[in-house]
Formats: sequence, C-alpha cells, structure tokens
Amino acid sequence: LKLDKNFEIEKEYIAKSVYFYHKILLSDLPLAKEARLYLEQRGIELEHIVKWGFGFCPYSNELSRKVEKKLVPSEPLLELGLIKKSKINDGFYDFFHDRIIIPIYGHEGSIIALSGRLFQPHLQSKTKELPKYINSPESAIFAKSNVLYHFYAALQSIVSYGFVLVVEGYMDCISLVNAGVTNTVAVMGTSLTHSHMEALSKVTKRIIICFDSDKAGQNAARRTFFIAFPFKGIDLEYLEIPDGKDPDDFIKKYGVNEFHALIPKTEPLLNRVCKWFFEESNFKPEVFLRQAKEHILPIILQHPDKQVQDESLLFLCDKYFENVYPEDLRQEMEGLSSLHI
Ligand code: UTP
Ligand code: MN
Ligand code: MN
Ligand code: MN
Ligand code: MN
Repeated sequence: LKLDKNFEIEKEYIAKSVYFYHKILLSDLPLAKEARLYLEQRGIELEHIVKWGFGFCPYSNELSRKVEKKLVPSEPLLELGLIKKSKINDGFYDFFHDRIIIPIYGHEGSIIALSGRLFQPHLQSKTKELPKYINSPESAIFAKSNVLYHFYAALQSIVSYGFVLVVEGYMDCISLVNAGVTNTVAVMGTSLTHSHMEALSKVTKRIIICFDSDKAGQNAARRTFFIAFPFKGIDLEYLEIPDGKDPDDFIKKYGVNEFHALIPKTEPLLNRVCKWFFEESNFKPEVFLRQAKEHILPIILQHPDKQVQDESLLFLCDKYFENVYPEDLRQEMEGLSSLHI
C-alpha cells in the first residue's frame, strides 16, 4: 500500500480492526466474559472498556477468517502486522491472538497501533513463555520512540495542571487517568526519548518521571536522565513509588489520595540518579566521584544553561564531596569536553 502520505487508508483499517476486536470483548462469548471479569478485577469497568476502546482476540482466526473468506483484503492487514501468514497452510492467523487489545492513539488523535496483553486463562498450565505485551510492528505510522501513550488525550490536562506525569506502562496510565490524574502519559516500557521530550517540552516545563520502582524502572529512569536532562528550560523530576511497586499496583493498594500525597515528595531526577549511583558505590564518596565524573558530569555539561550547570555542580559538592568545589568539577567537566573535540 503506497498510499497518501497521511496514511488515511491504513489508519482506517487499524480503526476498523480495533472496533472488530472491541465488539468481541463486549460479546457473550464465555472467554470474553472472562476477559471482562479480569479487567474488572483490575479496576477496569465496562465504561472504561468503552472509553479506552479495549478489545479482545480470543482465538487466532478472528480477523484472519474474514480475510480467508475474502471479506477483507489481506494486503493492508499483513502490512499493518494485524495478521500473519500461517506456517502450516496458505491461510493466516491473528497476530494478537490470546490477548486483550489496547488501541494506541498517535499524537494527532487517531489510532496508529495496537498493543496486546497476554490473556489465556484456559491455558494457564502451559509453560510456553510468551511476552506479556506485544505491539504492532514499527512502521512509518508507528514508532514507539516517537509516541507517548495517551499524549493526545492528556494535552489539555497537562497544560492546565502545569506538569506531566510520565509512567512506564499502559495500565499505570489507564489507572491514573481513571482515578483523575488525567495529565499522565506512558512511554510503553522504554526510556523517554529525545523525540518524546520535544513533544512534551512544547506543552509543559515540568516533567515528572514516575516509573516502576523495580530495577528495570530505575534503569529506564536513569537512561531518561541521560537523554532528557540537557533540555533547556525543563524541570525534570522524579516521583518514587514506595514498596517496589508500579503506579497501578500502588493505587490499587492504597488509593488515589495516597498517590496525591506522594506528589510533594517529588525531587529533581538529577538528585535521584545521584542517589542510585551513590548506593551502587556502597556509599563511598571517592567511588561515587569517579562514577559522577564518568556518567553525570558529561550530562551536566550538555545543559545549555550555565546557571543550571552551576547549580547542579554545587548540589553534587554540597551533598556528596567534602573537599571538592564546583570549580573543580567544572574544570574536570571542561577537561572532558576538550577530550571529545
Ligand atoms: P511492565 O512489565 O511493568 O508491565 O511493563 P505492566 O505495564 O506493569 O503490566 P501489567 O500491569 O502486568 O499488565 C511496562 C510496559 O512495558 C511494555 C508495555 O508498554 C508495558 O505497559 N512492555 C512490557 C512491552 O512492550 N512488552 C512486554 O513484554 C512487557
Ligand atoms: Mn516495569
Ligand atoms: Mn509495571
Ligand atoms: Mn503493572
Ligand atoms: Mn563540597
């Protein structure tokens, strides 16, 4: 399909497929009832299923059956990764089989991809390791590194609250928004990219990272620091979820009021990253100083605002290094830059 540059036809096929799976989730099929029950147990009621456009693909021949009956052309669905060619016959199968489907809207507000969360209660004993989530393949329409989940719908709230909350997962975002924290977007499991930052920095100056508090989430937050810190005029902060949980688990357990109570505890992401490095240095300032020189100073140096650089260096010296002065670190930093020329 080499069609118009706005991909109108592709988007129409995606939207129609999402609606097709949506109707299956709302149907009387026993498995669909189980899927709705599962969602309900996660706090997602019927109204949310409708609002977020959730779908369900219980078997591998839902959409592909339509294709095989020639009710739908195979070409666009293959290209969009919604169906795949069967390896055993000349038929097709649904890529998102055994999954609850979450539509992904692009920054312009139309559906550009699907994500599928594994749901196969009838196969619970099966040992085969399948990924928890799969997404539509990367394409000219959908590139994970350019898209923030729920960005389009969150725009108004981001502007009116004056900040954005960036979480890792779909369910974190959905849970928060359903609980009224509507200025939330999700990175879909990666770190925040340069392109995400460009989109966000156009609408707000305050970006709060709130990833899962496990190791993977910490590492993603750290990568986010490396990428996002040098953005001019942005306050990059970190909100820590206690108990090694993700925001969704936290809200389910403690409620949204407890979540709101965390927001004043937000700290600059730089500070949090320093604490992680310091912990890893076994709280030895001389070890941390080497780490800081290698990993943190080069990032501070990239900041276009000299005042922010100075404040950051002062913070490091005050908090961690007894006999080191900001000027020492600046010299060190500029030494680094001359090495890279
Ligand atoms: P998590 O592993 O934290 O999952 O991945 P989750 O969002 O808490 O999922 P639930 O609560 O068990 O349903 C965070 C995000 O990383 C991406 C998804 O966007 C997910 O929401 N991810 C995760 C994938 O793309 N593939 C995976 O296999 C797992
Ligand atoms: Mn995670
Ligand atoms: Mn999670
Ligand atoms: Mn979760
Ligand atoms: Mn000092």
